[in-house]
Amino acid sequence: MDFHDRNVIVTGGSSGIGKATAKLLVRRGANVAIIARRQALLDAALTELEAERVNRAQLFQACAADLSDWEQAQSSVSTVTAGGRVPDVLINCAGMARPGYFEELSVEIFRQTMDVDFFGTLYPCKLVAPMMMERGSGHIVNFSSGAGFLGVFGYTAYSAAKFAIRGFSDVLRSELKPYGVGVSIVFPPDTDTPQLLEENKYKPLETERISGTIKPVQPEQVAKAVVRAIEKNKYLVIPNFELSLFYALTNGVQGFVRWYFDRVIASARKERG
Ligand SMILES: NC(=O)c1ccc[n+]([C@@H]2O[C@H](COP(=O)([O-])OP(=O)(O)OC[C@H]3O[C@@H](n4cnc5c(N)ncnc54)[C@H](OP(=O)(O)O)[C@@H]3O)[C@@H](O)[C@H]2O)c1
Repeated sequence: MDFHDRNVIVTGGSSGIGKATAKLLVRRGANVAIIARRQALLDAALTELEAERVNRAQLFQACAADLSDWEQAQSSVSTVTAGGRVPDVLINCAGMARPGYFEELSVEIFRQTMDVDFFGTLYPCKLVAPMMMERGSGHIVNFSSGAGFLGVFGYTAYSAAKFAIRGFSDVLRSELKPYGVGVSIVFPPDTDTPQLLEENKYKPLETERISGTIKPVQPEQVAKAVVRAIEKNKYLVIPNFELSLFYALTNGVQGFVRWYFDRVIASARKERG
């Protein structure tokens, strides 16, 4: 995909990986809308995006909304798609992580993590995918985590939500493929962002020992991998070697399963007419 003059929505685009991805896409000529909750961060990010513009016609927008709330998700997506601006790319980067021992994490933390990470990804997909399907093109990127395919100590709440995103994205990919809409799932390793700083305040020692063996990557490295995956319509995005190795060892057969299911689905759709 050539990003010049394309319309991109980045949820969580006011910070960390989302902001790095939004900036990279601005440098490639895209029109970028970011959605997150805090207005001050959105305003600051918008100024940074404007500083990266490569042509005068590029449009930028920042919309404040809590994407774990269906009504706010609806109104923010309708704001950024107003005037028939159908998105070419939706990047669902908004998320949170709250590690801790299972017995110490409240039910509210489990619910909030599922609301923000899973429903905050589902809602924009639910709103944007039908527009892309009708047009017959587009690309959706969902953010899981290394903890979305490996059960990591201390992440009962986060892993549950990130595994849910993985299951959802696996199915979404195969259902949207016949409509010409691509889906990618990103499994970032620890990345040097405000989320990681916040998480580190709560990590049990056991979690630190596991994740401490891998040096955090920079958000720009993840952003580059995301943009490359959209360009190549690649489903699986794992931005560093160690995590790719873990994935190959634990889930290596998944590529074959996707290929096999796609063939069965294509033949069933032919049969249906
Ligand atoms: N950093 C890592 O080590 C790491 C590793 C694996 C996966 N990930 C995943 O990568 C994605 C990006 O993480 P990051 O590290 O870049 O985080 P970050 O710097 O904390 O940014 C998170 C973004 O999401 C927004 N957000 C959070 N809750 C929201 C809500 N309810 N509604 C709308 N926006 C919301 C935040 O803005 P507001 O707070 O103002 O809303 C912010 O813009 C997340 O899905 C995260 O789980 C991160």
